[in-house]
Amino acid sequence: MAAGQRRGVTVAGVNPESAVDPKVYLNGRYLPLSEACVPVMDRGFLFGDGVYEVIPAYGGRLFRLHEHLERLEASLQAIGMAPPLAIDAWPARLTPLIEPFDGADCSVYLQITRGVAPYRDHLPSAGLTPTVFAMGSAIPTPNPTLFETGARAVTTEDLRWGRCDIKAITLLAAVMARLEANEKGGLEAILIRDGFATEGAASNLFVVRDGRLITPPKSRLLLPGITRDLVLELARLHDLPYAEEAIPLDYLRQADEVWLTSSTKEVLPVTRLDDQTIGNASPGPRFRQMRQHYATYKERIRRGEVV
Ligand SMILES: Cc1ncc(COP(=O)(O)O)c(C=O)c1O
Repeated sequence: MAAGQRRGVTVAGVNPESAVDPKVYLNGRYLPLSEACVPVMDRGFLFGDGVYEVIPAYGGRLFRLHEHLERLEASLQAIGMAPPLAIDAWPARLTPLIEPFDGADCSVYLQITRGVAPYRDHLPSAGLTPTVFAMGSAIPTPNPTLFETGARAVTTEDLRWGRCDIKAITLLAAVMARLEANEKGGLEAILIRDGFATEGAASNLFVVRDGRLITPPKSRLLLPGITRDLVLELARLHDLPYAEEAIPLDYLRQADEVWLTSSTKEVLPVTRLDDQTIGNASPGPRFRQMRQHYATYKERIRRGEVV
């Protein structure tokens, strides 16, 4: 039986016995989700004062863990917080959260807030103890048919702040963009700032023109996605031409292919953008190549050949 199909697995490889009230990690302890509570004076609750990561796991192995933890440290540093744990202390804390999934695809959500405040003030009190929370869950991957047909995305104004490179838990603008996309029948919102497409509400953006992959360069206007970096790495490895260049809205609309990338979406083709079609309205040849490379890479992770 394939990994993830053991012990009464029904939904997306999740073991229901463990998923009913899964064990989560909170401030150094593992406890059932139903018992995990954070005080209302937590600055994450009051101010959205915290950062997070979503780390996929394939075959019981956390995917690009080091890169995720480095990005976590960069986010913490950017908001003036010391890391609560050294990078090499995280694997032992996080691995127990994926064990109940028996090797099936899953993910770890990890959130760190600045801690519980003695009183509500924007200025953090000195000496707070960070709140560290992590849980394992099934990966909410898109419906598999979308990889065959492509998804619809809608463009909307990028209303976010000036530090989108920080993976902050403060996600209201992204939530609003996703609500708008959903109302218009889109799976994702592609965010437009000053006439340029930056990224998706929860994904990075690639376009293909004349066989060349293009994604916006890293800056404070977008999240440095781990999947984005992997896609560029696979492009290099397989001699697919690519460039990191700004994407004007017109260029996006005229693209041969549009993709969204994220830990949960992987590489997802977009074939409808607002009321128009992209390319010939079905996933393009570069997408099919990249999907194959990505699938091979995941398989190598499952076998423990790469991290
Ligand atoms: C705004 C934004 N951009 C890009 C991404 C993709 O990042 P990753 O590939 O590391 O999942 C995410 C993921 O949640 C995101 O929220």
